[in-house]
Amino acid sequence: MKFDNPATENPIDQLKVVGKPIPRIDGQLKTTGKAMYAYEWHDPNVSYAYGYPVGSAIAKGRIKSIDTSIARKAPGVLAVVTAPEVGERKRGPYNTAGLFGGDKVQHYHQAVAVVVAETFEQARTAAMLVRVDYAVEDGAFDLKEAMKTAVKPDESQQPDSAAGDFEGAFKEAAVTLDEHYTTPDQSHAMMEPHASIAAWNGDELTVWTSSQMIDWWRTNLAITLDIDKEKVHLMSPFIGGGFGSKLFLRADAVLAAFAAKAAKRPVKVALPRPFLMNNTTHRPATIQRIRIGATHDGKITAIAHESWSGDLPGGGLETAVNQTRLLYAGANRMTAMRLATLDLPEGNAMRAPGEAPGLMALEIAMDEMAEKLQIDPVQFRITNDTQVDPENPQRPFSHRDLVGCLQTGAERFGWNKRGKPSSRREGNWLIGMGVAAAFRNNLLLPSAARVRLGGDGVVTVETDMTDIGTGSYTIIAQTAAEMMGVGIDKVAVHLGDSRFPVSSGSGGQFGANCSTAGVYAACVKLREAVILKLGFNSADVVFENGTVRSGNRSVPLAEAADASGLSGEDTIEWGNLGSTHQQSTFGAHFVEVAVDVATGESRIRRMLAVCAAGRILNPITARSQVIGAMTMGVGGALSEELAVDTRRGFFVNHDLAGYEVPVHADIPHQEVVFIDETDPFSSPMKAKGVGELGLCGVAAAVANAIYNATGIRVRHYPITLDKLIGGLPDVA
Ligand code: MOS
Repeated sequence: MKFDNPATENPIDQLKVVGKPIPRIDGQLKTTGKAMYAYEWHDPNVSYAYGYPVGSAIAKGRIKSIDTSIARKAPGVLAVVTAPEVGERKRGPYNTAGLFGGDKVQHYHQAVAVVVAETFEQARTAAMLVRVDYAVEDGAFDLKEAMKTAVKPDESQQPDSAAGDFEGAFKEAAVTLDEHYTTPDQSHAMMEPHASIAAWNGDELTVWTSSQMIDWWRTNLAITLDIDKEKVHLMSPFIGGGFGSKLFLRADAVLAAFAAKAAKRPVKVALPRPFLMNNTTHRPATIQRIRIGATHDGKITAIAHESWSGDLPGGGLETAVNQTRLLYAGANRMTAMRLATLDLPEGNAMRAPGEAPGLMALEIAMDEMAEKLQIDPVQFRITNDTQVDPENPQRPFSHRDLVGCLQTGAERFGWNKRGKPSSRREGNWLIGMGVAAAFRNNLLLPSAARVRLGGDGVVTVETDMTDIGTGSYTIIAQTAAEMMGVGIDKVAVHLGDSRFPVSSGSGGQFGANCSTAGVYAACVKLREAVILKLGFNSADVVFENGTVRSGNRSVPLAEAADASGLSGEDTIEWGNLGSTHQQSTFGAHFVEVAVDVATGESRIRRMLAVCAAGRILNPITARSQVIGAMTMGVGGALSEELAVDTRRGFFVNHDLAGYEVPVHADIPHQEVVFIDETDPFSSPMKAKGVGELGLCGVAAAVANAIYNATGIRVRHYPITLDKLIGGLPDVA
């Protein structure tokens, strides 16, 4: 199905199942431990071996030699496979750096060997006995230094944009701001580590893994192993979080495949937690400069956002200026991103790449500007709303209700009780409120599905879509139930298997809208097949309560199925509604914090997110996405930071003791409000993504609340107490 006209009324609009707060259909499997995660797959007839990785001890250079003789003699060891032995591998389109193979070291903890043994403990012990001799080379590890030689990347990364005359308008502006902001390197820190089991059957490979994007992984794994893609079968039905770290093939799958070949046994490889932060990817640090010029009555006349980030040679930008191209009006504008070469581990997508760190800066700048103008920060944002793409004013937004989010939020949160900076104190706590706008683009990826009707009336959906904890199983079941006129208990959903039609996968908050639209398309095909089979008139046919009705004839849906089951398969493909109209999602975040007047310890007191993101397919799973994202925003504001050893080139705090994410006790009260809306330009579902929107802007709302509490403006994340303590009032 090609979606190239805005959606009109369709069966989804009945909202008998879609839009309802239906608990996760896979919830019981998960809470009872029956959902099999990658490492847990277990066939009692198979004797699995265990692989343990050896990571490079240097950040840049070459492996001179590897001595595996002692490791090979250790108890239980079946095989040792080294990177020089497997040789340099071809790299697929979705991997910046090599994952395993050859003698070149590009970053610390790059996999240089894998040890296979009868047990995990034996493999781990033997891995310590592998001796690697390196030739070390100098590398660049400090963004502040490397930005001096940063370059403009090629146009495919869209580094620059401009409209009007920024410099002229900024010079003329009545009120101006020119500030720098920084965001640190961050790690995904999802619950489930990267893990794979590989089993060879002749030249065919089966991999159980933890992947957000089945087809990308399959493609890249086949290229890396130099085998035909058709020979690779990948399965990833349950995923314990990805946050972007599992978008692209990672070393666990490659190591497991080589290890299983060498050991001639199925091999399990889980990347140990202390190995994850440097072996896999991270969100790159940014240095950002923002300039805003406005009239006295608060109209932005000039806005510029520049950002510097780094990556390995051949890598990409952290696209931190994305939202500034679209969020606020202003005739004169420019954005620019520059890329430095760094020899740190690969930078890549993490939790709303681009907008998340970009809004951390922009939305502090907006708060600062509102203060200079002596305008309420909610009002300042409303004043500068735009219903068209400000860089291309002939392009409207498909649907945009930022103003509604800000107004609803302000009212619900009690924003009018916010006082002047450092004016509210309760005992030892300084109390403050902050606001930030949320913005995240709505991406459209093709997505296919197959839907089968069984003789028992059960509708079975198959697609290689993944559920990374988001609720894909449930919203896909809701979509099929609505389309086929059955209850959700009559729908079975099978995901995460490369034998199924290729879906959008899960990333960039595109999964919900795209994958359900693919299921919608397949159901349209199945409905046509049912109508044909039953000889109905398609003009007035109704699918309802497990029956198919036309005129005064009504037939149980199950009767349309034949012995092999009737099926429909299709792909949703996108016309140009994504370019004629700017599709984005909007929100407003409100935060109240308390800062200890003596220690500078910051505590979240309450948070509110108001989201305008198209139709909400399931308010339970959507809310769960948003509160999780808000929690990530608190992490970004207060604690998350990979500490870079700029001499040796690695992330020092590479475990969950040193890399601090918020826990339950850090998040006392969260509220989420969805503005009831539909976006007919986004898909037949009229939905958009909401997961990453829930994160975008949160950290700035926290920073602005801390400013309101203390009068201390921190522009460098995370806002740890050392950045506050010098500015706190003297305690009597
Ligand atoms: Mo997301 S960072 O695109 O998984």
